[in-house]
Amino acid sequence: MATDLVTGANGYTGSFVAQRLLDAGHHVRTLTRDPGSVVGPVEPFPYRFDDAEALADAFRGVDTFYNTYWMRFVRGTATHDVAVTRSRALVTAAARAGVRRVVHVGIMNPDVRSPYSYHRGKALAEQAVREAGPSFAIVRPSVLFGGNEVLLNNIAWLLRHLHVFAVPGDGRYPVRPTHVEDLADLMVALGARDDDVVRNAGGPETFEFGALVRLIRDAIGARALVVDLPRALVLPLTRLVGLVTRDVTVHPDELDSLMEGLASCDGPAAGSRRYTDFLAQHREAYGRTYTNEVRRNFTDGEAH
Ligand SMILES: NC(=O)c1ccc[n+]([C@@H]2O[C@H](COP(=O)([O-])OP(=O)(O)OC[C@H]3O[C@@H](n4cnc5c(N)ncnc54)[C@H](OP(=O)(O)O)[C@@H]3O)[C@@H](O)[C@H]2O)c1
Repeated sequence: MATDLVTGANGYTGSFVAQRLLDAGHHVRTLTRDPGSVVGPVEPFPYRFDDAEALADAFRGVDTFYNTYWMRFVRGTATHDVAVTRSRALVTAAARAGVRRVVHVGIMNPDVRSPYSYHRGKALAEQAVREAGPSFAIVRPSVLFGGNEVLLNNIAWLLRHLHVFAVPGDGRYPVRPTHVEDLADLMVALGARDDDVVRNAGGPETFEFGALVRLIRDAIGARALVVDLPRALVLPLTRLVGLVTRDVTVHPDELDSLMEGLASCDGPAAGSRRYTDFLAQHREAYGRTYTNEVRRNFTDGEAH
């Protein structure tokens, strides 16, 4: 029985990857901040970024390492520099333990010169993956949907609760959402290979952001008026929303990189699951519950 390690097997993307590996009869380990919360057949290990030897122990006997580790935005001591250092520590530990292959989740349009620490950090994390030694596959999605998703679900939630939804700028920048299960399928398929692969992992549909918001509104039967507003006016509104939700509903860098067109890319789709079909299937339940990223991943703003 092959043993694989999936970071965040209790989390979002990692849970879909782990389930596929379990279904295929693999033994699955995970690294997590909270090993006590892992139930079922997955074997948990704590992230030991303070001890390279202990971190490598989690990888002993592992064939493929599926790396989802990242922080969505900067908060307190949780910075993207920290996320890069830790990503490097993870792939170094995997290499040291003799792991055959690394399947790594990146982001569309990574760039070491990017003004956005997310995209810059992801480019540096990719470099670490390439340099670590094991063969690798790097997949680059932008916005994920399906399951316990965050961004698009929360747009639906806002559309259900607000009278007016403000789209920054002219709303004509592209978004290419990917179903989380398509990403998981792709990751597991790439895990079985031995060649080095770097590929974009967009979905089969690309939308203009403003049109996407209106599509969600109409699908869920919300009444919010969707208006285009200058970015300078939208930013304080997002802060206000954050105060109400007690979350970073959208980070300014996320807004800016979206407006710059970085949430889309070329290349074949990761899979065939379409967001429009997903919306039609989930129109009743979509956006009924808000998914709080701070509560889920940042609690006290420290880099644990
Ligand atoms: N979600 C999206 O829409 C999206 C879009 C494009 C790319 N991605 C990429 O896909 C990968 C997986 O994303 P996901 O949303 O599925 O992530 P996730 O499950 O919420 O978290 C993935 C892993 O990172 C750890 N982690 C998350 N936030 C952290 C924080 N603030 N401090 C310390 N550790 C943290 C989690 O630790 P625990 O196991 O302890 O929870 C987990 O092991 C990431 O590399 C992300 O950049 C995601």
